Amino acid sequence: MRSRKVITTVVLGLVCSVSLFARTGEDVYEEICAKCHIAYIAEDKIEQNFSEYSNTMLKLKAPPVSQIALAMKQKLRNPDLNDKINRLEVSAFIADYIIYPDRKKSILDPKISKYFPTMPSLKGKISPEDIEIISNFAYDFDPKAYAKKSVANLPFEKVLQKAQREDKIILIEAVAPHCRYCKKMQEETLVEPSIVAALKKDFITLTVDVSKDELPLDLNVHMTPSFFFIFPHKGSDKVKIKRIPGAWSKEDFLDILNESVLAKKNK
Ligand code: HEC
Repeated sequence: MRSRKVITTVVLGLVCSVSLFARTGEDVYEEICAKCHIAYIAEDKIEQNFSEYSNTMLKLKAPPVSQIALAMKQKLRNPDLNDKINRLEVSAFIADYIIYPDRKKSILDPKISKYFPTMPSLKGKISPEDIEIISNFAYDFDPKAYAKKSVANLPFEKVLQKAQREDKIILIEAVAPHCRYCKKMQEETLVEPSIVAALKKDFITLTVDVSKDELPLDLNVHMTPSFFFIFPHKGSDKVKIKRIPGAWSKEDFLDILNESVLAKKNK
């Protein structure tokens, strides 16, 4: 027993020291900034989230890195100057802002920043080395590369065929990364044994993160979480859709599931 403990400690020690030396911008981002800043959200989703839905759709805690990178490009970079000088300019801005955040210095579009409180200072929470690493990460940030990384293909056609075949209802849960009620729903309601059993019996479930992926059937959400019940018809491509927005208690959600099953039987 004792020798195993020693080995674990040694292995852990190794892993830590290795990652300390090879710390990348992504490591620092994940460890410190990702609590609030999502890396990438498509431009049209951002637009929709703020201008149409006042941030209820994605419930962002902070502007995404892609948006900050865009603002830095437009406001801090000077195309007439060389890359080295531009990099210094951007680094200086970030190094200063994260320690002494102040709205007066903001480079963000006020149409977006008005939805957020001023960023809390990271003074004492980030080392000078990490500040330099994260500044370069932000300067080099390539939204397209991130977009590619996060695209999950949703084989909805397949899901639909399966639902038709098994005579099941498709239940889509639309969520967003920092959505507190999505988490509450997933951790409190959707784990309830009676709900798990009901879902297993009559439903095929899909979770779609609307900050990254499109909903099928041209569905859209104006708040998360939102639930879509999709009732397929046997032998036809037509579907009936019921939309239920919001987070629900176990009792209420079980009622909703039961009603959907009844509705399917009575159609
Ligand atoms: C506790 C949440 C939180 C954390 C952690 C956080 N930020 Fe922020 N940040 C915000 C919020 C909220 C805003 C928008 C309000 C503002 O601009 O002050 C913001 C804005 C920014 C801006 C834009 C400033 C402007 O208005 O022009 C930059 C740059 C930034 N953050 C960098 C970082 C970096 C780099 C990290 C990680 C090292 C980080 N943030 C960690 C919450 C956070």
